[in-house]
Amino acid sequence: MENRQINFFKSKDFNTVLKPFKEGTVVKIDSLDSKENQKELKVGLFGWYAICPSKELKKNKLHYFSLYDEPLILYRDESENVRCIKNICPHRGASFFGGTLSDGVITCPYHGAKFSSEGSCQNIDRITCSHIVDNNYDNYAKRIHLSQYKALEKNGYVFVHFSKNSETDLNNTSENAPISNHELSDSGFSQEDYVYEEVIVDFKCDWSRIIENHLDILHIFWVHGDTIPDKEVNKNVLVSFNQKINVTPKYFESTYYYKNEPSKEFIRIKFIPPGRILIYKGDPSISRYLQVLDHIPLGNNKARVIVRHYRKFLKNKILNNLILFKETQRKIFYKIFDEDYMILKTQTYNHKMGFINKDEIKLLGEDRIINYFWKWYKKSEDKDEPWENINNDKNLSVYDKIIMKYPPEIKKLEIINNIEIIRKTFVRFAAPLIFLLLII
Ligand code: FES
Ligand SMILES: [Fe+2]
Repeated sequence: MENRQINFFKSKDFNTVLKPFKEGTVVKIDSLDSKENQKELKVGLFGWYAICPSKELKKNKLHYFSLYDEPLILYRDESENVRCIKNICPHRGASFFGGTLSDGVITCPYHGAKFSSEGSCQNIDRITCSHIVDNNYDNYAKRIHLSQYKALEKNGYVFVHFSKNSETDLNNTSENAPISNHELSDSGFSQEDYVYEEVIVDFKCDWSRIIENHLDILHIFWVHGDTIPDKEVNKNVLVSFNQKINVTPKYFESTYYYKNEPSKEFIRIKFIPPGRILIYKGDPSISRYLQVLDHIPLGNNKARVIVRHYRKFLKNKILNNLILFKETQRKIFYKIFDEDYMILKTQTYNHKMGFINKDEIKLLGEDRIINYFWKWYKKSEDKDEPWENINNDKNLSVYDKIIMKYPPEIKKLEIINNIEIIRKTFVRFAAPLIFLLLII
């Protein structure tokens, strides 16, 4: 735990730069008053995480992942409900990796214990052992249950409620944590009006660095200026904006207005803890596109990002297919992630080695939201202590390959997407042309 502490919070500058915000009010950055009572986000690092798109959970397939280095599995039970269980068999502690899932029944690969929610237990929310090779079945097998976290589906995502302790019986989950804060309709847009592209990547870096990156508008112009197809975002045009910050117990958001048109929004970034960021291009009521970014703390130096790019334009499927819009969008996403990853890898190293504990770190006024996030993160880490399973032993990285499904260096995904673009271009244009020429 100690070596994960973000030491730069000890920096004098960092403690003094952030001035408090008033809850639920829109505060202009230059007018923040240090005497105001700081109202804070009430949600910490425990809560609902969007883990994967619903379509990723295939029939009879176990989806391996981890949260804060705790090995977990997602799957669909016999009623097609999503389940999130600890990847540990309660008999002798084997992983279910190599085991099977058939119509909601998980079979442990070690001694064949079978688990389903239709076990002998009265409570259907339990996942109970229904069979094990054992001569004293009644006294043993009927009493063992898998541990699980609450899971559900919404807006095409599978969410898991991560908390201090998993449960054997979901009815006993004391914390009644509504998901409403994460419903897209609560963030001012209806999913039906949009179509989206989706990209998932894994990074070998600290997940909080990625969130910080997505809260940061300063780097967009510099790092992504040559990649983002928007002439307003340009390496040579570094502009500053009027910034307004709104903090509520459930989220905080930062809105950037054009200096010459003070009522016109350039971009709005909303952070919904523990891991979701929404980026609106312009006022949400008229925004033609927005990004939903989910950050998943797989473990120490392992993080997953799910990005959905929702848009109101070019919704026609045929046209989309013809011009390979989805594929070209994905190509841009991979390039953007590649650009970010170059920074995040070394930033994570500096952060974990404690090198960012120096007075030379000085924040700009525009970094206020970053500092707010850092403070929230540090406080939440101290309060929730989610890293208790942290594994610093490189020899024990047995799960890494199983869990890191979307290659950390992302090149492979980029190459696959490029090949897909070439293949589809050939099928759509070159092949019919060759065929035509042959006929003639
Ligand atoms: S460890 Fe799973 S059945 Fe023995
Ligand atoms: Fe970025």
